[in-house]
Amino acid sequence: MAKKALITGIAGQDGGHLAALLHEKGYEVYGVIRGQLEASHPRYQQVRTEMPYANLIMADLLDLSALTRAMQEIKPDEVYNLAAISHVGYSFRDPVLTADVTGKGVLNVLEAIRLAGLEKTTRFYQASTSEMFGGLEYNRPETGYTEDAAFHPRSPYGVAKLYGHWITKNYRENYGMFNVTGILFNHEGERRGPEFVTRKISQAVARIKLGLQESIELGNLDAKRDWGYAGDYVEGMWRMLQQDEPDDYVLATGETHTIREFCELAFKEIGITISWSGSGVDEKGLNSETNEVLIAINPEFFRPSEVDLLLGDPTKAETVLGWKRKVDFPGLVKLMVDHDLKAESK
Ligand code: NAP
Ligand code: GDD
Repeated sequence: MAKKALITGIAGQDGGHLAALLHEKGYEVYGVIRGQLEASHPRYQQVRTEMPYANLIMADLLDLSALTRAMQEIKPDEVYNLAAISHVGYSFRDPVLTADVTGKGVLNVLEAIRLAGLEKTTRFYQASTSEMFGGLEYNRPETGYTEDAAFHPRSPYGVAKLYGHWITKNYRENYGMFNVTGILFNHEGERRGPEFVTRKISQAVARIKLGLQESIELGNLDAKRDWGYAGDYVEGMWRMLQQDEPDDYVLATGETHTIREFCELAFKEIGITISWSGSGVDEKGLNSETNEVLIAINPEFFRPSEVDLLLGDPTKAETVLGWKRKVDFPGLVKLMVDHDLKAESK
């Protein structure tokens, strides 16, 4: 009999990659999306078209009764909890909702599994994050954060995720549930939401090339991120749930790059070399041949507190899970710009 997997947040970036992977592996795929069960609902239509094989359940992470019903009806072998308010900047603006969904929502899913009597049979994956580390100088290991590094979240999002991380481990210890946490560093790609910096840049670069936009406004250019490709990372999620014992794993590339480097490489893809002038909020990224301003700073995109540097150490995932990322940093930038050049040309 085919295994059943339930993905919360199936409409998001990782949800789409994971659903495709599990479908390919022969799973019956179920996905939770928000909204009303309404065939004309745009979100529903989009997911329906992209993933015709997926069985969709309209439910909210805040609704324990709907989640419990879903568990009782489906009796999934594996649950991947990807749903969250996942934008760090937004979490400063709506910290209460972020705590409810990104934090307490995890508890709702775990309780739904227990209330349905599935705590001994259903395996659970929690989407934990490198944002929990905080990137502060005092807790920053030279070779990258490992599973045992100290946490110091710097945003309401990071704090909510830390609750989700610990309640997942706590339920593993309390009830012997097969709960794993994947502490994933940033992962991007053609499905990334346009509110995240990499996709904002790749879309803008494509539009500038096609004459649809003149320039782009960004916030902090000096933050460093360990960026991988989302398609590689969902393979790691699946591997975590196939082990004999539940555990916690970091997925990362082991490399870190600034937003500035991402911009430079992305513009290089359309044949433009960026030269920088000025500093602070007056800094500009210019077309080195024409001096046209292509990048400007808008303080609106600064955050009240920033995670300056993220670098992960994926050694445990590589040795225990046999996981290895395939797409490197230049490959990721190219893949995103190429995709957006095609998409924006339509
Ligand atoms: P994403 O694109 O933002 O997807 C999150 C999904 O959660 C969206 O489809 C959203 O629904 C859904 N959602 C939000 N609130 C909900 C609610 N109240 N009830 C039900 N669903 C709700 O995020 P992602 O990049 O795929 O990331 C997947 C997970 O991994 C998230 O938990 C994220 O925090 C975590 N994570 C991501 C990264 C990364 O670099 N991508 C790294 C570490 C951890 P709508 O589509 O309706 O908005
Ligand atoms: N979004 C955004 N927009 N970020 C900008 C901008 C801008 O215009 N300009 C500069 N940045 C900087 C942010 O300040 C941050 O330092 C960095 O770019 C990355 O921002 P995001 O792409 O929004 O991602 P994130 O690192 O904050 O969070 C993502 O990765 C986490 C894992 O480390 C999200 O996917 C989280 O859900 C995930 O947990």
